[in-house]
Amino acid sequence: MITVRAPATSANLGSGFDTFGAALARPADVVTVEKAETTSIEVTGVGAQYIPEDPEKNTVGAVVEALDAPAEIHIDKGVRPASGLGSSAASAAAAAVGLNELYDRGHSREELVPIAAKGEAVVSGVAHADNVAPAIVGGFTVTTPTGTHGVDTGVPLVACLPDVAVSTRDARRVVPETASMEDVVETVGNAATLTIGMCRSDPALVGEGMDDPVVTPERARLITGYDDVREAAFEAGAAGVTVSGAGPTVLAVCEEPRRRHIAAAMVDAFANAGVESRAYQTRIGRGATVL
Ligand code: HSE
Repeated sequence: MITVRAPATSANLGSGFDTFGAALARPADVVTVEKAETTSIEVTGVGAQYIPEDPEKNTVGAVVEALDAPAEIHIDKGVRPASGLGSSAASAAAAAVGLNELYDRGHSREELVPIAAKGEAVVSGVAHADNVAPAIVGGFTVTTPTGTHGVDTGVPLVACLPDVAVSTRDARRVVPETASMEDVVETVGNAATLTIGMCRSDPALVGEGMDDPVVTPERARLITGYDDVREAAFEAGAAGVTVSGAGPTVLAVCEEPRRRHIAAAMVDAFANAGVESRAYQTRIGRGATVL
């Protein structure tokens, strides 16, 4: 029997749509796998009632199939589904790492990324790997169709999760099909700035590079109170604010001493908009860990 903890993740980070990702030190899913003749899945924890246990419909079923690794699987959810915090990716990443070890398949962490991404297709219709990559490898990651590159950093974050659900499927429908050259140039500049910020573990530079003129403004419309929460976070000292993944979590990057203050300001701003929320005071952390 093997138990693996895989972290929540934040995809996109604004300027890196479908490319950037970061592992969060918390929250996390914990997945236990044990060899069996046929696969069975049991789900407990946060939002378990919304997650199908049928292996055909669960994100982990696709991973079992890809690794040819039938197992009795228990998923303890710490990452709420439909949160924008890579909930399905955390389960898929933990299962990929656990089953790879259980059956001695010998895949490297990087090789497990596209395998875990197959689980994402079950949930969102697209096998995007920008959540599973940091969930498996850890740190800040850049994922393209040719592979994943990562850098370890401990940049402090606040992830404020409102008590509403946004499905990735719905949030993908509002993504514009085209972008102007002006917006492309701005995005490339920001993405490059953010990447240098991550390499230097410099929250100010990361924040400066978070803005995205193309996708985030459309997604923000799906989140009640977004503009006020963003403004409150900046007033409290955030260096950058954006939508985490497909939302509705709002992500702020900051210097560590500001984190508590920013978390409180974001929760207050959501409350003023009539939405309850909870803020995780966290940081960029490590990938899936065998316990
Ligand atoms: N990059 C994906 C999206 C992540 O934004 O749709 C979903 O969590």
